[in-house]
Amino acid sequence: MAIVTVADTNTTVALVAAERIAALIEGSIRARSSATVCLAGGRTPAGLYDLLADDRHPWRHRIDWTRVHLFWGDERHVPPDHPDSNFGMAYRTLVSRVPIPLAQVYRIEGEREDARDAATEYEATLRNGLIAAGRTDQSFDVALLGIGQDGHIASIFPGSPTIDERSRRVAAAWVPHLQAWRITLTPPALLNSRHIVVLASGEEKAGAVRAALVLPEDPSRWPAQLLRPAADRVEWIIDAAASRSLAGPPA
Ligand code: 6PG
Repeated sequence: MAIVTVADTNTTVALVAAERIAALIEGSIRARSSATVCLAGGRTPAGLYDLLADDRHPWRHRIDWTRVHLFWGDERHVPPDHPDSNFGMAYRTLVSRVPIPLAQVYRIEGEREDARDAATEYEATLRNGLIAAGRTDQSFDVALLGIGQDGHIASIFPGSPTIDERSRRVAAAWVPHLQAWRITLTPPALLNSRHIVVLASGEEKAGAVRAALVLPEDPSRWPAQLLRPAADRVEWIIDAAASRSLAGPPA
């Protein structure tokens, strides 16, 4: 069963998440001399990344960034300096503000003309980066995720063929409702994580959170349900508004 922490607002979600992520990273460095962290995109994690990098808070100095290896759960089919780039958002809010060796920052090359090439390239980058971090089991210590109103995680959208991908670790998929390609880690890559932390805030996420945690199994409709096999390795940190539908009648 997943662990759910409800914070008052999206601001407190970021504060609770900053403490939890920092503690998980510190624990991994103590246990394995490094920490492999897969970052989420979208808007929700920006506040968390900003807190982790802000030297007015304890977390930036608690984390030995020289031992952290950063990966991405997904990327838009855009260059890193594009306003929609997940790497670009994390670079501005976190990566450019902490002393992490750039050789330990493994971004998805969203600028590649063919998104499928970017996926193939990242399959190798991910493998080599995790080996460089000492993870022969190709595991993340922490995988951060958000959730879309439609229940997508990373760039695994409802009805996507990536939902059933069980061998490749990175895939490119055309997203019809966005009329865009996305590059995403697949379920086996995302689930190979010691800890998965999902952030959600806002009333518009309440239905997806309920579907992910309570509704009957239908991952093709609700991809976030792909996290269920990870049980208590999954921790949801959500605000009161996003938790609103959890108290509803059982499914
Ligand atoms: C992305 C993310 C995606 C995101 C959700 C929630 O590339 O957009 O990886 O999975 O986490 O869409 O996005 P918000 O945090 O912006 O609501």
